[in-house]
Amino acid sequence: MSVKIDLHHLTGFIDDSEFTAIAPQVRLAQETLSNGTGAGSDFLGWLDLPVKYDREEFSRIRAAADKIRSDSEVFVVIGIGGSYLGARAAIEYLQSQNYNSLKKAGPQIYFAGNSLSPSALSEIMELCGEKDFSINVISKSGTTTEPAVAFRVFRGLLEKKYGKKGAAERIYCTTDRARGTLKQLADREGFETFVVPDDVGGRYSVLTAVGLLPIAVAGADIGELMAGAAEERSELSGDPVSDASCLYAAARNILYRKGKETEILVSYEPRFQMMCEWWKQLCGESEGKNGKGLFPASVVFSTDLHSMGQYIQQGKRNLFETVVLVDEPAADFTIGEDADNADGLNFLSGKKMSFVNQKAFEGTVLAHTDGGVPNLVIRVPDFSEKSLGGLIYFFERSVAVSGYLLGINPFDQPGVESYKKNMFALLGKPGYENEKAVLEARLK
Ligand code: PA5
Repeated sequence: MSVKIDLHHLTGFIDDSEFTAIAPQVRLAQETLSNGTGAGSDFLGWLDLPVKYDREEFSRIRAAADKIRSDSEVFVVIGIGGSYLGARAAIEYLQSQNYNSLKKAGPQIYFAGNSLSPSALSEIMELCGEKDFSINVISKSGTTTEPAVAFRVFRGLLEKKYGKKGAAERIYCTTDRARGTLKQLADREGFETFVVPDDVGGRYSVLTAVGLLPIAVAGADIGELMAGAAEERSELSGDPVSDASCLYAAARNILYRKGKETEILVSYEPRFQMMCEWWKQLCGESEGKNGKGLFPASVVFSTDLHSMGQYIQQGKRNLFETVVLVDEPAADFTIGEDADNADGLNFLSGKKMSFVNQKAFEGTVLAHTDGGVPNLVIRVPDFSEKSLGGLIYFFERSVAVSGYLLGINPFDQPGVESYKKNMFALLGKPGYENEKAVLEARLK
């Protein structure tokens, strides 16, 4: 099994009887999910995606990635939320957060359209400079403001550089199969399109073209990624006492009901940072509604032990930690001997750096549990595509089960509309005239 869960450090926080008591609810939540009888059941396409994906499109994704790798020095991925986080998280997990400096082949990859910052967008325009570049605009709805604005900008740059026809050969659109402005535009202009399936919501879409094209452009083996997810899918039995995703859902719900309302995802690997961001969206958008839900936070240790570590050790006791450990580091080395031992570090000579990192985890988990913070540990074998596919599927399943346990629809996100309405009104979008005056009066 690729993903393992270790509940050892919950001793003293949750006892076996609590797992026994919640097991029937977990079973029900899990059955609700697999039978498709719960709220949001129109969005369960991700459940079978690892074994039921469009093979023809998959080959087109690989071919497009090969073309982009051969004709582009820069690849700009335009999208926000679920149309952004998974691809970036996967590339950093598989390659490094320093991918653009370390890569041996293929284009630099930059992410745009994930904010409205003029500085951020200008920076990426400058990074494209005189270089050959291609873009992948990803938007299921095709109407999200952030990517739409960025797309207008980069499409303009491409047309200026390559002409309309040349630009069209460098624009890849990932959007709805049939609907939306972006689909219409792509069909009209002859851009290559990839599909965000109707029954897969943004935050569950990393294993569709949304994530797969950028990940393949980074040189990763997307076949292995899908194989890892498929393997995890076949190993998760749905049994509340042996299925790791159910155990994780059970533990976090028991802790939540006991007042541990903030879950901190912890990693000891900086290249996991964007995976934390992906996970935060998955949990936050799935569970934070109807006045309920764990607040998902994240840290990377030992970096954040020198900042957030103080709060975790001694601050408000409403937290628990979920630590993701990757058994095999992407690289390792042995610490050398220093004749003078001026830094006093010779006690580490001959030790692997991974050993030091492991001891940091062991010391921290004991300190934090002593400080009243329950800890769950999730283990993944390595930084391979296969392990990543397994981990993605594991988290998606856990969060969906967890959402049903909480009594909410884990597949909608009605709350994200509120800021959009206000922003459209304040920007003067046609149709929002009445709201504009009211909002402007409130801001005075
Ligand atoms: O998870 C979600 O549904 C959201 O985060 C969306 O992915 C995000 O709002 C972007 O939407 P779209 O792909 O329609 O541009």
